[in-house]
Amino acid sequence: MAHIVAPSLLSADFAELGTAVDLIERSDAGWHHIDVMDGVFVPNISFGLPVIKSIRKRAQKPFDVHLMIVRPDQFITAFRDAGADILTVHFEACSHLHRSLQAIKAAGMKAGVALNPHTPVSMLEDVLADIDVVCMMSVNPGFGGQKFIERTYTKVAALKALREKTGSKALIEIDGGVGAENARKLLEAGADVLVAGNSVFGAADPIAAIAGLARG
Ligand code: DX5
Ligand code: ZN
Repeated sequence: MAHIVAPSLLSADFAELGTAVDLIERSDAGWHHIDVMDGVFVPNISFGLPVIKSIRKRAQKPFDVHLMIVRPDQFITAFRDAGADILTVHFEACSHLHRSLQAIKAAGMKAGVALNPHTPVSMLEDVLADIDVVCMMSVNPGFGGQKFIERTYTKVAALKALREKTGSKALIEIDGGVGAENARKLLEAGADVLVAGNSVFGAADPIAAIAGLARG
């Protein structure tokens, strides 16, 4: 499978959010990556349901919604109704992860699990076969534009091995500090999805930056 580029709208100019969505639509990107932060699970607040609902109207490509919130279970159908196609919860925020994954799928979405940099991939062994996307954080979640954590390569290799062992088909998504300088190495390590915020929306030509990541 060719890899997917998922630009993160967190790094867009929120006064021009619709323009950023349009840009992703006409680029080589496969998904929109949408970061929801509650100021509790992470030390930042971004945007939520009404914003997603509003931009959904002008997008065709899938919405990859990354919930950095506590107690995500109570909002699963609300995010589905707002337009999420893939709903990702944090391993660290879910006491009953298996139940959360079943609820996301029962609501008609693909189920994602995000791992903070300190969480070993082995923690997913017993649920990996139920997961559609593993979002591996390569920075501490909460902010765009942070430095990529090099340990991520080792974790991608470990996740690939675990995926084979468990017969899982989960896509491996890398989130944080991804850009032209590390994309190829991440793809070689086994990444299937590259999330990119600052390296796309901070670029002079975001369309070209996305095209570069799509070439790998
Ligand atoms: C961080 C978010 C990321 C972020 C990535 O908490 O989950 O999706 O937007 O931004 P960059 O690519 O700038 O590190
Ligand atoms: Zn994210």
